[in-house]
Amino acid sequence: MNYARITGTGSYLPEQIMTNHDLEKIVDTSDEWIRSRTGIEQRHIAPSEQNTSDLAEPAARRALQAAGRVPEEVDLLIVATTTPDRTFPSTACLLQQKLGIHGPPAFDIQAVCSGFVYALSVADQYIKTGMARCVLVVGAEKLSRIVNWKDRTTCVLFADGAGAVVLEADNKPGIISTHIHADGSYESLLTTVERQPGTDQERLADGTAFIEMKGNEVFKIAVNTLGSLVDQTLSAAGYSADDLDWLVPHQANHRIIQATARKLGMSLDQVVLTVNRHGNTSAASVPLALDTAVRDGRIKSGDLILMEAFGGGFTWGSALVRF
Ligand code: UT7
Repeated sequence: MNYARITGTGSYLPEQIMTNHDLEKIVDTSDEWIRSRTGIEQRHIAPSEQNTSDLAEPAARRALQAAGRVPEEVDLLIVATTTPDRTFPSTACLLQQKLGIHGPPAFDIQAVCSGFVYALSVADQYIKTGMARCVLVVGAEKLSRIVNWKDRTTCVLFADGAGAVVLEADNKPGIISTHIHADGSYESLLTTVERQPGTDQERLADGTAFIEMKGNEVFKIAVNTLGSLVDQTLSAAGYSADDLDWLVPHQANHRIIQATARKLGMSLDQVVLTVNRHGNTSAASVPLALDTAVRDGRIKSGDLILMEAFGGGFTWGSALVRF
């Protein structure tokens, strides 16, 4: 039996940091409100010339280096993103070009904040069936491009960044199981609105659409859904929460993460928290958090990790992984 093992992780954050105090100068908000409602203290914002594939490239190179692999060894490249550089070519193809890879399949996955978990699930199937042996999975976002910088209910939340993993075939797990879900009937609660040419909206950002969210409703559904998801994931694999070493959650809101940890009976010391420094980077948030905890030595070989995410669509998903 082939299993998919994570053999390297990497991440990249753009240089510019935007603090809550910086946001106080743009919209009617306060550092106190943002910290207490979300846990966010600062976020990284890419300059206009830096696209999603530019953020993905250093994250991918760092993951390859950590795995001891060169780009030519990658036989499948998947990029999870909600903010592709262009409608086409895919960001995966643009990244492939930057990495100098020619020939193996490359495609994007669009599942918003659950994108990285979706991509892991797809990569896992390719490795299990013997269709691929060395897969580069990247989550990368330039959400600042689709943020309405006049909307205080969303602009304080979202940010830019990229994270990546190398997955390789092995005879022991690795990825134990993945669980992915969607329910499109919730599309109106978290969506993008197309910009109307010739209106005031044109000045909001340089993208073609911007984010709109009914945050409070999303919050409640996210807490309930993630609570059921973590139960489903553990029971399907025959594990209990006591077996877990780490929870690596999507970093949308400190209070949502706390609720999931409480549901699992896990202490916050066992939860990788980056939302305070990274904000919500959608598909990049889980691999960014993973790489942070791998590089600072918290996550070690052999640890049992539960990754989970919830986002627009709605989509949600989890991966139970022996690191
Ligand atoms: O990653 C994809 C999934 N996304 C999520 O999971 C996000 C889920 N939602 C959330 O994280 C939270 O709902 C938010 C952080 C977005 C909002 O927190 P909340 O505790 O749900 O606040 P709320 O939306 O109920 O708003 C409370 C008040 C409102 O004022 P009134 O009506 O009580 O007078 C808002 O107008 O806070 C006000 N408010 C703000 N005040 C200062 C909303 N945004 C801000 C702001 N600064 N930035």
